[in-house]
Amino acid sequence: MFDRIAGVYDVMNSVMTVGMHHRWRSRAADLARVSPGDSALDVATGTGDLALELVRRVGPGGRVVGSDFSEGMLDLAREKSTAVRWEWGNAQDLKYDSDSFDAATVGFGARNFSDLDAGLREMVRVVRPGGRVVVLEITTPQKPPLSFFFRAWFDTIVPRLGRLAGDPDAYTYLPSSVRRFPGPRELAASLASAGLRDVGWILTAGGIIAIHHGTVA
Ligand SMILES: C[S@@+](CC[C@H](N)C(=O)[O-])C[C@H]1O[C@@H](n2cnc3c(N)ncnc32)[C@H](O)[C@@H]1O
Repeated sequence: MFDRIAGVYDVMNSVMTVGMHHRWRSRAADLARVSPGDSALDVATGTGDLALELVRRVGPGGRVVGSDFSEGMLDLAREKSTAVRWEWGNAQDLKYDSDSFDAATVGFGARNFSDLDAGLREMVRVVRPGGRVVVLEITTPQKPPLSFFFRAWFDTIVPRLGRLAGDPDAYTYLPSSVRRFPGPRELAASLASAGLRDVGWILTAGGIIAIHHGTVA
């Protein structure tokens, strides 16, 4: 599915979020707290925009790897920059040594993992103790009026946009994947079980976007 939608993915993101997705990725990268010279891994990197935010923070002396299991997505990421090592990889079975990065991030990818706990454990494993793990994800707002707006947007408008983009299935999958993803408190508990301490999260965009973060114990 991700190979199929790769060509329209960036445009659809900008249309669906009215361009706000760049700001959310920037906040997620800030929470990774990487400095010049550090190393960072962005899993389920897709077309690479979060990895590129990390590159801006680690600078030319740092190292950023963007990993994904969709070659279609990776091909588009490769066209954007050569400053990131774009590598094929399954987030639930990463090929990197333990403790080999200062931070790991995932943006809008975790809800697609068939085994969320395995994906989170892998992110924690590859980050050194004291390093950071950040999960940027869409979440279901609980309080009106945003909850009404969210339902209308996701259940009606997004599938229609998907039809216009030529892939109705993918953009019907999107709202269903968000609905079954754990809420902020539950996700924080999963991150703690995966091996993070000081887990916290911020909600933004009226409670539609959650950015979880924690430090590897
Ligand atoms: C919605 S896109 C998000 C892309 C990007 N991180 C962003 O911020 O826009 C989800 C991405 O997760 C990838 N993905 C889903 N499950 C994965 C897995 N188990 N291993 C690696 N990549 C995965 C898909 O190929 C896709 O590129």
